[in-house]
Amino acid sequence: MLKKFSENDLYEAKEYTPGEEIYEEALDYLTFWDSVAKSEIEWFEPYREIIYSGNAPFYRWFLDGKVNITHNCLDRHIESKGDKTAIIWQGEPENEKEMITYRELYQRVCRFANALRTLGVQEEDVVTIYMGMVPELVVAMLACARIGAIHNVVFGGFSSKALSERINDSDAKAVVTMDGYYRRGEVIETKRIVDKALEACSVESVVVLERVGNDVNMVDGRDIWWHELEEGLADECECKALDSEHPLFILYTSGTTGKPKGVLHVHGGYNVGTHITAKWVFDLKDGDVFWCTADIGWITGHSYVVYGPLSNGVTVLMYEGAPDYPQPDRWWSIIEQYGVTIFYTAPTAIRHFMKLGEEWLEMHDLSSLRLLGTVGETIDPEAWRWYHKYVGSERCPVIDTWWQTETGMIIIAPLPGITELKPGSVTLPFPGMLVEIHDEKGNPADIGELVIMNPWPAMFRDLRGDPRRFVKQYWTSDGKRTYYTGDGARRDEDGYYWIIGRIDEVLKVSGHRLGSAEIEGALVSHEAVSEAAVVGKPHEIKGEVPVAFVVLKKSYEPSVELEKYLKTHVKNEIGSIAVPEKIYFVEQLPKTRSGKIVRRILLAIEKGEEIGDITTLEDVTVVERIVNVKGAK
Ligand code: PRX
Repeated sequence: MLKKFSENDLYEAKEYTPGEEIYEEALDYLTFWDSVAKSEIEWFEPYREIIYSGNAPFYRWFLDGKVNITHNCLDRHIESKGDKTAIIWQGEPENEKEMITYRELYQRVCRFANALRTLGVQEEDVVTIYMGMVPELVVAMLACARIGAIHNVVFGGFSSKALSERINDSDAKAVVTMDGYYRRGEVIETKRIVDKALEACSVESVVVLERVGNDVNMVDGRDIWWHELEEGLADECECKALDSEHPLFILYTSGTTGKPKGVLHVHGGYNVGTHITAKWVFDLKDGDVFWCTADIGWITGHSYVVYGPLSNGVTVLMYEGAPDYPQPDRWWSIIEQYGVTIFYTAPTAIRHFMKLGEEWLEMHDLSSLRLLGTVGETIDPEAWRWYHKYVGSERCPVIDTWWQTETGMIIIAPLPGITELKPGSVTLPFPGMLVEIHDEKGNPADIGELVIMNPWPAMFRDLRGDPRRFVKQYWTSDGKRTYYTGDGARRDEDGYYWIIGRIDEVLKVSGHRLGSAEIEGALVSHEAVSEAAVVGKPHEIKGEVPVAFVVLKKSYEPSVELEKYLKTHVKNEIGSIAVPEKIYFVEQLPKTRSGKIVRRILLAIEKGEEIGDITTLEDVTVVERIVNVKGAK
């Protein structure tokens, strides 16, 4: 029996969710995942075996099954839900909107799949997609998946340099992009960024969607307009029956080295995992309007804007623009206008709206909402309560979901109507997931690193081009093959999980994942910089912001101008999200005798906290000198 708490949320509508006995039943996780895969997903040919662990951690799921995630997201809905809205799209300009039915989405995906074929895109070819939040982004992803090509969506906020690295690393054959899109009333010139990226790499074709009609440069023989490419093509395209383990997408994410990791997901298991978590965690019903505010350039958008909800046949809302544009009530007006029932967002956005004030919500009727979700970083109890009170009118449960790009699907979250909530806790592992906390020695503990003890269907299968890093970085080498998440966590007396935050050098800036080493690499690539160290400083709204400590080369002097140049340089190398809030010019960085930068000390200095033990430093006087630089600012 689950314990009942006084802070219980009254949530009764549990149309599809199972009873609380599911937690017990699913401890036999293979039987659980087998029954989900069989009952929720359509297979062209059934699988022979649930899992193959012989080459762990390279697990394989649903062996020899034939499947295609787009069949489950589109084809199977056509008969019963062809006229139902699949995507409600709201442009940033208020008069630009679109309602796309499941049948129309199916036809548009088929037509674009045919278009990709005319470009010579074949199974396992990589297509990089670099677009704003428009329905064609979803069409392009599903079209790739339909013909067995692999999509690699790059977040529209990344710079041309970051884009070219991802195009290169993934060996992309084609790029799908657009002329531009709107953000805060301005046009982001996407195609121009692609042109710049392609100076440093090459692809065979670039497909350009016309969205805003700004001037773009089309390169002969390489670039083609989306609408011209589609001319005369059929809106039917056979859905390829693919192996369960056929690659679906690569998504780059940050780690502890300067080089982003290409996380690989596959059709079968990812479909099973995202489908059932979307269905149960959000208690999806036929009439729902589901709005996940994440950009599709991140994993949340892949799993819970596109694949999870569409596989369940619900209506998905997509919004192109900024949350508070042209006024701070934009999101709330969209919820009211379209009758959004389930709303899934990030704590950074909640904190932002808390600051802007309740009056912007009170202007709107939000009574359509019945469930609220959150993801990406820890939500503090205060923000949880505000979200619950002002957005959910104390009627809607707040479902805090913990997961990662690597896990593909939600791993820890309450089941609405079943799991009692505690503000600030991600509560309990999803059925079929065996989660623990380990201390530094790898023994079970109540506080330490969050680990996953069993394989799960939507788990990533590899890191593109770097299987050694995949094996070494995440998994124990013993027979158990425990998955180490990189997150600190604790478990309370009720067995509830509380996420403390990353324990490695990974930052969460407005919920976006960035590596210290990545930003340091960008700084060091500037001619003036000899060495750099980046730490994440706590920030009221953004959660964390990068702060840099930079050692200049001998011929350069610190100056306000140079700080500005370096910030612009980071923007060009990675994107605006990575720009340090502050850059301190220091003579030396605190290092151990073996030359490792001790970022912990820099963070303590930045926060004005107790610095702690510095005896491992090669030169302890460095600390005082950095404190002085900081004090002088
Ligand atoms: O630190 C955890 C944090 O986000 C990290 C994963 O980042 P990313 O791969 O970009 O995926 C984000 C969206 C799934 C985790 O290692 N994180 C994610 N969800 C939560 C969270 N931290 C606390 N609470 C959460 N609900």
